[in-house]
Amino acid sequence: MEQYAIKGGNPLVGEVEIGGAKNAALAVLAAAIMTDETVTIENVPDVNDTRVLLQAMESIGVVVERLDRHTVKINASMISELVIEDDFIKKIRASYYLLGALLGKYKHAEVALPGGCNIGSRKIDLHIKGFKALGAEVKIEHGLWITDAERLQGAHIYLDTVSVGATINIMMASALAEGKTIIENAAKEPHVVDAANFLNSMGANIKGAGTDVIRITGVEKLHASEYSIIPDQIEAGTFMFAAAITKGDVTVKNVIPKHLESTTAKLIEMGCQVEESDDAVRVVASKRLEATQVKTLPYPGFPTDMQPQIGVALSLASGTSIVTESIFDNRFKYIDELTKMGANVKVEGNTAVISGVEHFTSAALTAPDLRAGAALVLACLSAEGFSTVEDINYVERGYEDFPQKLQSLGAQIEKVASDRDLQKFKLKVG
Ligand code: EPZ
Repeated sequence: MEQYAIKGGNPLVGEVEIGGAKNAALAVLAAAIMTDETVTIENVPDVNDTRVLLQAMESIGVVVERLDRHTVKINASMISELVIEDDFIKKIRASYYLLGALLGKYKHAEVALPGGCNIGSRKIDLHIKGFKALGAEVKIEHGLWITDAERLQGAHIYLDTVSVGATINIMMASALAEGKTIIENAAKEPHVVDAANFLNSMGANIKGAGTDVIRITGVEKLHASEYSIIPDQIEAGTFMFAAAITKGDVTVKNVIPKHLESTTAKLIEMGCQVEESDDAVRVVASKRLEATQVKTLPYPGFPTDMQPQIGVALSLASGTSIVTESIFDNRFKYIDELTKMGANVKVEGNTAVISGVEHFTSAALTAPDLRAGAALVLACLSAEGFSTVEDINYVERGYEDFPQKLQSLGAQIEKVASDRDLQKFKLKVG
């Protein structure tokens, strides 16, 4: 089974280019099927989740042409099937966008219920509430969610919980509906704005994305577009915390600093120096980190997708920190793994009380989910000696060339597929 072999103890130093945002790309790629004209999308991250989504789109007749590793040309004029249930699509959460896009365009769709990382209940009731408000019938049978509508009529929809997926999915399903739709208590994440901007580039009429009230006026049809995905603020934040955790000096390039404000603020609180320029952020951690408190919140609050990364950093800080996870109810699974490295953390419900330790000891770890897996890699990079991280398929769902990018910063890390490879790595790095 493939794993990461790591020899930790070196500070990470240097510059790293950040790729396109996975959670924006998944929405934009799905939305691209809402027109029969050709759409070109640039800066698509080459990760498992985007590959799986593109495969699912091809399985129903969407023509997908990869112009290069990060650019795809999509034409959905020949869609021959409105049922998507292949095994791959069941693994990713973002399959739900295909339902919204197909419903919006064809008024019918059957898609396997969404999968995704086990970080808590991944409900879809708000998606269903939105589709029903627009006039669709939604039922769940044989592991599929099936939706049908005679016509889609704009509606006033209040989201009881701030939901990224439901906000984007309702935006898509209402883009071609008759009349006006208002989404109240909408998510404001950068990828919500990116999805709205992309839909508008195809001729949709969406206003207010990035605020908690989004207004969509349905249009007749959508047309061709050329679009580039925004940088991934979670990948960027992960490398910023890599500097903090290894007492290094890392510059993340091709970023939008505004999207990183809450991460930057926390790193400064913890004693790091942070320098911002137009499209880069530099993080220098020359001394031991200081404890702080953090609560994950919808954007622009501190992102839940950065919670494992800050949890690892605070486990090395001087003093006691409190981490509260307010979005998902099972996102502290990485703490058990971190304890194997000597961390001292007490989890009670959705709160972790972290007593910082001077350093971690190397260990053999298992990634419990995507962002926790990446955070555990950072923990191993800080610990002297050899560590391994298994179940790295999680990490590769959302990070492109993760070991290679870390190596470019001085990390001694390799993906190994056997014990023999592991021994060879150990001999090589000594
Ligand atoms: C998206 O998941 C992201 N995934 C997640 O990133 C991210 O953690 C999450 O948004 C929050 O930012 C993708 O974009 C593919 P939500 P999503 O709907 O859409 C509740 C990563 O690491 N809820 O915003 O599933 C839900 O239970 C992944 O890249 C309902 O109650 O998240 C949660 O408590 C992990 N009913 C809260 O809302 C619903 O119908 C936020 O979930 C939907 C959600």
